[in-house]
Amino acid sequence: MANCVVLGMQWGDEGKGKIVDLITPSFDAVARYQGGPNAGHTVHVKGKKIILHLIPSGILHKNKLCLIGNGVVFNPKSFLNEMEQLREFGVENFDNIVISKNAHLILPYHFEIESLIEERMGDNKIGTTLRGIGPAYVDKMNRCGVKVGDFLNEKVLKEKIELNVAEKNDYLIHFGKARLDADAIFREFLDYASQIKRHIKDVSYLLYDKMREGCSVLFEGAQGTLLDIDHGTYPFVTASNPTIGGVCTGLGISPYDIDAVFGVSKAYNTRVGAGPFPTEIQGETGNYLREKGSEFGATTGRPRRCGWYDAVAAAYAVRINGIKKIILTKADVLDGLEELKICEGYRYKGGLFPSFPTEKWILEKVEAQYRTVKGWKEPIDGFQDFASLPQAFKDYIANIEELIQAEVAIISTGKDRHETIFRDEKLEGLVNLEAVKDEQFVDQI
Ligand code: GDP
Ligand code: IMO
Ligand code: MG
Repeated sequence: MANCVVLGMQWGDEGKGKIVDLITPSFDAVARYQGGPNAGHTVHVKGKKIILHLIPSGILHKNKLCLIGNGVVFNPKSFLNEMEQLREFGVENFDNIVISKNAHLILPYHFEIESLIEERMGDNKIGTTLRGIGPAYVDKMNRCGVKVGDFLNEKVLKEKIELNVAEKNDYLIHFGKARLDADAIFREFLDYASQIKRHIKDVSYLLYDKMREGCSVLFEGAQGTLLDIDHGTYPFVTASNPTIGGVCTGLGISPYDIDAVFGVSKAYNTRVGAGPFPTEIQGETGNYLREKGSEFGATTGRPRRCGWYDAVAAAYAVRINGIKKIILTKADVLDGLEELKICEGYRYKGGLFPSFPTEKWILEKVEAQYRTVKGWKEPIDGFQDFASLPQAFKDYIANIEELIQAEVAIISTGKDRHETIFRDEKLEGLVNLEAVKDEQFVDQI
């Protein structure tokens, strides 16, 4: 079978976790390529709600390799906690989890630095998840980062931690923060090393080897296109590349190893944290979507801002990532609304933008131009067959497809696996639908 990417087309929380878990039976391995425990990927299985942060969302299935790539920033404490939680849900086998030796570690000073920066920015703060993500990537780029592979060499680990703590202490003390104890951090991390060592490998080589044997891989993105450090709404972005380029750099694979890119897109838009949001709905309808869609952050619990579907931004995600197939999620949240709006253009100084502008000062001034379409009354969850869906819903999909020039191949109509409509003919050769639709999921729980 094909190697496929599942990535977010909006500002994250599109429902990537549900989709990755759902289609995992078609693949031999699931690999995360960027981000860290800022991600919160929710999976509902057998009445249980499981939120994954670092571990790939394929973990609930037996015998699937779960890989954490070099592009991820890795917090050993949250990884061990996550394994503990999964154990409580009945997951027993963690032998299939492999962490790249080249992934960078998140250390205690990254949290201190991040909260200090956010505090000092006042009204201009990004509203990060405060998981140390940005400062860990800063150290990576600054070539002073500590890698997961350093867990395999006690001397190197000690030296690197001492050097970093000495430097970071100067900065923290300057701003009136407490001094960190390098030795205590080293001892804490030595303990993590002893628990994590067995999972550390060269993920790039392992993938090469597995793909050569004929294994198929599902590449799981975190965050979304509009949060991309290069292509997103900078500076209100995360510090990595959730977009397609991140798959190759974040796992050490060739672009020729990627057969298809699935873009996950909510049927409306949401955003957590600060930053421009041209289709944001203030007031009653926004609150309605937040409540009906349970739009509260899976990692931080913060309320998500809600808005109409933004086809300008979605068309941009299609272009940047080479998406041909869309997975549209949370369509059920729109059930019962009289009419719906789809943003088809941004008006600015009398003209329309040919493509999504990423600048804050432009996005804050653009006037969203809407196409208004009829809503549908009948609840769409429970439908398995596209043809029998309400006409107004099919028209909503057709409008999106026309505006963003990509096909809606899967429609998610609820949080559970079975609340999904596959348009089989659009997925042929990419996903083994027989395996995915088999009621006998080989679950670990
Ligand atoms: P991710 O970060 O992209 O994996 O998404 P999150 O897990 O942060 O947020 C998506 C939320 O929507 C989760 O609570 C999911 O359980 C839920 N969800 C996913 N798909 C659907 C859907 O089609 N309908 C509804 N109502 N909820 C969904
Ligand atoms: P998943 O994978 C939604 C947002 C934060 C903040 C910005 C920077 O669940 O879709 P960071 O801590 O990454 O430096 O914060 O990015 N953000 C997310 N928003 N979903 C996510 O992940 C996010 N990860 C980070 O709210 O605005
Ligand atoms: Mg999320």
